[in-house]
Amino acid sequence: SQLGTASAQLAQLPTENQKISKEVTILYGSQTGNARGLAKKSAQTLEANGYQVTVSAMSDFKPNNLKKLQNLLIIASTHGEGDPPDNAISFHEFLYSKRAPKLEDLHFSVLALGDSSYEFFCQTGKDFDGRLEELGGTRLYPRFDCDVDFDEPAAEWLEGVLASLGEAAGVTQAQAQTTVNPAVESVYSRTNPFKAEVLENINLNGRGSNKETHHLEISLEGSGLTFEPGDALGIYPDNDPELVDLLIKELNMNPDEKVTVKQGDVRTLSDALVSYYEISVLTKPLLQKAADLTGNKELQDLLAPGKEEEVKAYIHGRDLIDLVHDYTPWNVTAQEFVSILRKIPGRLYSIASSLAANPDEVHLTIGAVRYDAHGRNRNGVCSTLVADRINPGDILNVYVQQNENYKLPQNPETPIIMIGPGTGVAPFRAFMQEREETGAEGKSWLFFGDQHFVTDFLYQVEWQKWLQNGTLTKLDVAFSRDTNQKVYVQHRMHEQSKELFQWLQDGAVVYICGDEKHMAHDVHQTLIDIIEKEGSMSREQAEAYLADMQQQKRYQRDVY
Ligand code: 2AM
Repeated sequence: SQLGTASAQLAQLPTENQKISKEVTILYGSQTGNARGLAKKSAQTLEANGYQVTVSAMSDFKPNNLKKLQNLLIIASTHGEGDPPDNAISFHEFLYSKRAPKLEDLHFSVLALGDSSYEFFCQTGKDFDGRLEELGGTRLYPRFDCDVDFDEPAAEWLEGVLASLGEAAGVTQAQAQTTVNPAVESVYSRTNPFKAEVLENINLNGRGSNKETHHLEISLEGSGLTFEPGDALGIYPDNDPELVDLLIKELNMNPDEKVTVKQGDVRTLSDALVSYYEISVLTKPLLQKAADLTGNKELQDLLAPGKEEEVKAYIHGRDLIDLVHDYTPWNVTAQEFVSILRKIPGRLYSIASSLAANPDEVHLTIGAVRYDAHGRNRNGVCSTLVADRINPGDILNVYVQQNENYKLPQNPETPIIMIGPGTGVAPFRAFMQEREETGAEGKSWLFFGDQHFVTDFLYQVEWQKWLQNGTLTKLDVAFSRDTNQKVYVQHRMHEQSKELFQWLQDGAVVYICGDEKHMAHDVHQTLIDIIEKEGSMSREQAEAYLADMQQQKRYQRDVY
């Protein structure tokens, strides 16, 4: 069921004699923008059905107003190891704190977004759902937990919410014309990607580097798609046809056999596995479906209660070819086989260009992911598609994903500090292009790091040009493998802690982009160290200082 159908079936427009005065608040916690997009879409549908809707990021919502709400919809994604996304952290903390009010008058429903290949699937949504109930709220409609392919379940959830809201308001179901019409936007979106031509594909690393980082230029001409620096581009990758061949051989199936991937979409098995289904990731739900389908005793044993650690260990670094190989036989039809698979999700990349500087184009900085696991070379699906099989003239299915959590300051004079080792430097190229093109006067400071100066200084010539023309005020680089002792961006930050703290005091916005687990974590600690030392504060005061910066959107992270 699609959103349009959902609203058409359940719609009830207010008339003169029957006014629905129901107010609904939608709060979202979004890292990459999916929850935000769904929140906005849901708001449109609810408004078209006569509700007064307020939509807000959790970080922009004053939690003291919670007591006043009647109807609350929460749309929240989960980040990392079951953590709330950045713009949900403070609201999440508030709900679990002593300050959280009793919410006996509140009706709520939660839409949880997640990825079932992670252990703490939809944890943040589950937290909100459980906590609101504990605080006395009434569940208007049950929580939905969505996997990466969330459009259909999200539409179904909204349909259920609408029906429940209607019942609560004593509304009878009737036919009504509702049009959800995001007028000025491009017709292309995550659910309807644009077929974009690749203009350039260049390996930025020099010969002998351990890295392979591709600079990709893509044409958006004719798409109507626009974006701002800080936004991301989604790409729907094809799987490697060689892996698909291997998989089909392993299954002993005919690559040309026809399968239906969704209503009205019939393809050969081979094509379906190349361009529609995910074959590179194993999830526990997938294993369960496979066990149910094949009745394989060993697989059922693996999935028996209490074996979570074994399942985790098996899934890690393995793909569908391993599963098919390890748990034979597969006496199933091609159609049965594909029906247990999930649709391949788009991959998001921070945009590395500004439309002001490069109209009708979008540039990306993509690091090829390659590693060995379980006796085979493994390749990142999208990054190695780009590295190995995409040439100028080829077509990629793309969409723009807005990221309102990662934006240049409104005021062009506000100083910015950008910390982006490796491919994390991408959005800062967009920032500099934008600031150069618009003549922004604010100071800017880039910390960049990578392994070797000679081979890995991504976009070196451009940074030096911006230093020279004043777009970039300061540049500090850390090449970790040119010296005996590793040097990282945070070491450079420490070396200049006094000046860095002065920039913070002067209102600078700090941006981090890149690896989350190690780099962003260490840089976060370093910022606290610097604030503590240079501000003569206690650890707690320094942490509060940074938390306050985050609240004011002066500390923004785009980490992965
Ligand atoms: P390394 O690989 O030599 O350890 C971009 O990948 C750069 O980030 C590399 O120079 C890499 O160094 C560095 N890096 C690795 N771990 C880091 C961390 N915890 N903090 C900052 N930079 C890190």
